[in-house]
Amino acid sequence: MKLNLGPTDRMYPMPCPLVVGGTMEAADALAVAWIGTAGGTPPSIGMALRKTRRTLELIRENGDFTVNIGPTSRAAEIDLCGIVSGHNVDKWELTGLTLEPSRSVSAPIIAQFPYNLECRVTNEVELGEYVFVIGEVIESHAEESILSQDGKTVDVGLLDPLMYIPGSREYRGIGPKLADAYSIGKQFLPPKE
Ligand SMILES: Cc1cc2nc3c(=O)[nH]c(=O)nc-3n(C[C@H](O)[C@H](O)[C@H](O)COP(=O)(O)O)c2cc1C
Repeated sequence: MKLNLGPTDRMYPMPCPLVVGGTMEAADALAVAWIGTAGGTPPSIGMALRKTRRTLELIRENGDFTVNIGPTSRAAEIDLCGIVSGHNVDKWELTGLTLEPSRSVSAPIIAQFPYNLECRVTNEVELGEYVFVIGEVIESHAEESILSQDGKTVDVGLLDPLMYIPGSREYRGIGPKLADAYSIGKQFLPPKE
């Protein structure tokens, strides 16, 4: 039997990257679990940010941001960036995380995080206490050490991205590969003549 749990914002699981706004001189980062792909052509990312966030102020000042996917080994640094605000503290000093310039946007990328997306803001949608920020991805970076053998895609096992579980409020990694996508579902289709 299923129980009705009412309206909820919970999706299971959620990614948990650090989003950076600002410049090399003045940047801030926050943990963002309410984030995902918003479109493919052009490649776009959407995220829900509470209007009070310091990082949102910097994103609005410069019109861009970066998404930085960290490994599970960086859970503590990511968590810190989700519990204190750049309004009050310097998160770079506290965590020891460092910044590198992006190629095409003013917001820097995080040196210790192996996968980074440079995004230019294309749209904002007001949603109560939040604003849904959409950015076009105009450049991406990946450490060579997390690439597949042919060098063409990220090996997600090597990336080992941190995931967030709402409700129980815990961090997890991803499990092993289960099946080939765009493939395993074909077993339900009639055989081709
Ligand atoms: C696991 C986790 C996920 C979070 N996801 C979001 C989110 O999607 N949107 C948001 O506005 N805040 C989110 N937060 C809260 C911000 O990261 C937090 O308020 C942060 O201190 C804001 O920093 P800032 O004011 O320096 O930008 C999350 C926090 C944690 C710990």
